[in-house]
Amino acid sequence: MVGSLSSPPPGAAPDWTVPQDWPRYTAEEHALWDDLFARQAALLPGRVAPAFLAGLDMLRLSRPGIPDFSELNERLFAATRWTVVAVPGLVPDAVFFEHLANRRFVAGRFLRTRAQIDYLEEPDIFHDVFGHVPLLADPVFADYMQAYGEGGLRSMRFGALHKLARLYWYTVEFGLLRDGGDLKLYGAGIVSSRTESLFARDDPSPNRLGFDLLRLMRTNYRIDDFQETYFVIDSFEDLLRQTIETDFEPLYAALETLDDLAPADVLAEDLVLHRGDQSYARGRRPA
Ligand code: PHE
Ligand code: FE
Repeated sequence: MVGSLSSPPPGAAPDWTVPQDWPRYTAEEHALWDDLFARQAALLPGRVAPAFLAGLDMLRLSRPGIPDFSELNERLFAATRWTVVAVPGLVPDAVFFEHLANRRFVAGRFLRTRAQIDYLEEPDIFHDVFGHVPLLADPVFADYMQAYGEGGLRSMRFGALHKLARLYWYTVEFGLLRDGGDLKLYGAGIVSSRTESLFARDDPSPNRLGFDLLRLMRTNYRIDDFQETYFVIDSFEDLLRQTIETDFEPLYAALETLDDLAPADVLAEDLVLHRGDQSYARGRRPA
C-alpha cells in the first residue's frame, strides 16, 4: 500500500507502524472475515498455486475470525522469518520498500464492510492478510518479496519506481503461474477476490501472456477493474532468478526509449498463451 504523505499520522511509529489492536474487532467483523475466508477457501483449490494452499494453513489459527498478528507472526517467522506489521493506511513508497527489504509485510488493519464484500478500492486486512500472507510462508516467494523491496529502493535512485511498480502489480498482485498444461492463480489481488478468481483464470476476455520482464515493465495496468492482460510465470524459482540476476539499471534506461503499452496490447513477439477477446473490457467501456 503506497501513498504520498511524508510523515506518519498521530499515533504511528516513525516507521509508520501501529498496533493491530486485535481486541477492537467486533463480532460482526470476525464473522465477515470467516465468510470471506470460507468463500475463497471453497473456490481456490484446483485454481490456485499449491504453495498458496500450503501457506493458507498459517491463517487457520487457534480461533476463527480475523487473525491476531502476534499469533500469526510466530508461525510465519518460524517458516520464513517474515512478519506482518499493521499500518494505518497508505504509506510512502520508501517506507513500504524498507519494510519489504527487512522481511516485514505492511498490512491494513481495517476490514471492509459487508456492503463491500465483493469490491473495495483500498486494500483491507482481508486482501492484505488472506491475499498476501500465505505465499510469504513459501521460501522462494518470501525471498522474491525481500528482493523486490531492495529493488524498489534502488529504482527510486533512477526515477524508475513507476516502471518497477508494474512488476509488483503483474506478479505479486495479479500474477498467474503455469502448472503443467494448466494455469494457477497466485496474485493477491486475484486470490482475495471471488469474482477475479474466476475471471483471471477462466474467462475468455483477458490476454494471458508469458512473463517477460522488459515487456511487462512497459505495460500500463488497470486499477479500477479486472485486468485486460495477465502475465504467466513458469515458477517462483524462475521469477526470483530472473529478477535477482538481472541488473535493472539498463532496463530502466531502455524503458526511457520505449513507448508504454496499453493494458490490452498484444505484440508480435509476445508468448501468447491465450489471446483475449476483451469482450468483458469492451462491454465496460462507454461506446
Ligand atoms: N535485480 C533488481 C535490480 O537490479 C532488483 C530486483 C529484484 C527487483 C527482484 C525486483 C525484484 O534493481
Ligand atoms: Fe496487495
